[in-house]
Amino acid sequence: MRKYKRVLLKVINFISIFILCRFLFKKFYKNSKEADYSYLYNKNETDIKACIFILCQNKDQEKLIKTIHELEDTFPHNYPYILLNDVPFTETFKTAISSAVRTRAHFGLIDKKYWSFPKGITKKDVGKNLIPGQFVLFNDRISYRHMCRFESGFFYNHPMLKPFDYYWRVEPGVGFHCKLQEDPFKFMRDNNKIYGYVISLIELKSTVPHLWETVKEFMRKYPQYIANPNSLDFLSHDNGKTWNLCHFWSNFEIADMRFFRSEKYETFFKFLDEKGGIYYERWGDAPIHSIAASLFLEPDKIHFFKNIGYTHWPVTYCPDDPLITPHCQCPEIIDEARDTCNRNLFRLQKKLYGIQN
Ligand SMILES: *[C@@H]1O[C@H](CO)[C@@H](O)[C@H](O)[C@H]1NC(C)=O
Repeated sequence: MRKYKRVLLKVINFISIFILCRFLFKKFYKNSKEADYSYLYNKNETDIKACIFILCQNKDQEKLIKTIHELEDTFPHNYPYILLNDVPFTETFKTAISSAVRTRAHFGLIDKKYWSFPKGITKKDVGKNLIPGQFVLFNDRISYRHMCRFESGFFYNHPMLKPFDYYWRVEPGVGFHCKLQEDPFKFMRDNNKIYGYVISLIELKSTVPHLWETVKEFMRKYPQYIANPNSLDFLSHDNGKTWNLCHFWSNFEIADMRFFRSEKYETFFKFLDEKGGIYYERWGDAPIHSIAASLFLEPDKIHFFKNIGYTHWPVTYCPDDPLITPHCQCPEIIDEARDTCNRNLFRLQKKLYGIQN
């Protein structure tokens, strides 16, 4: 009996030490991970908590410097730049970019946890739900899918983006063509806009064969998250039965991260992430952001920046508008603002709010 008691005491002792260790480890681990970057926002410099957000690699240096110069020529501003990479930036890169920007550039690393496969998915699953025989751009690139996953579900919670409400997403190599007459962040804030875009496109069906079914399942499961009114008409010609593949091209975005940090968006991302389609197919952050913005926001929260002339190869948007065109230096005027995808959204915004795009 006494022997039994001693063994029991030993077990209890062991368990309590184990629990204590776990607690200490977690506490230390958490503290070491969540550095405080609140100083990145300086209210003496900008009234709005906004930044220019760039996900890039060391090899992008030259392209990025050109892009930064074009951005600052068309929009002289005081906002800081937050640059993130999945591997450390080199000193050469940091020096070059720091001297290219008029404000300050801050360089950060993405934790492996947010640039990797989710639980239960491995390399051999990549592309397994695609339709055989259909061509899928970047299908062979695993890092492309990690990037899509990061841009869909994690960037806005990176500790260096946490101090900010708004971001302007810029990619190395993109071009800007029109001198802005107003601060787009101020426009977003003063007009209660949440998601801003320039180009809308038709998605390549082969990359997302089962995305819409999954979205419909989400809508049935979480009807409370669907805004009323919403922009389902932007996504669908038949009231949601099928997706017309319209989406906002997310390599350009000016948006409010508080939307992505909301329960509805986080639940949506988690749901899609667990379905595995980012890897089993090749769901991108563009359709994921676009579907969320269209379903969870009222249509007047989405803004088409018709005054931002923009090129992301191979697509250019350059406004054909007597009030804006004189401020632009475009390779040529390419104004597809009235194409099908935009037309559906504009019609809705006009009908509901009298917004003229
Ligand atoms: C902001 O300006 C005030 C007054 O000039 C100064 O005391 C403060 O240190 C500045 N804060 C930062 C973060 O630069």
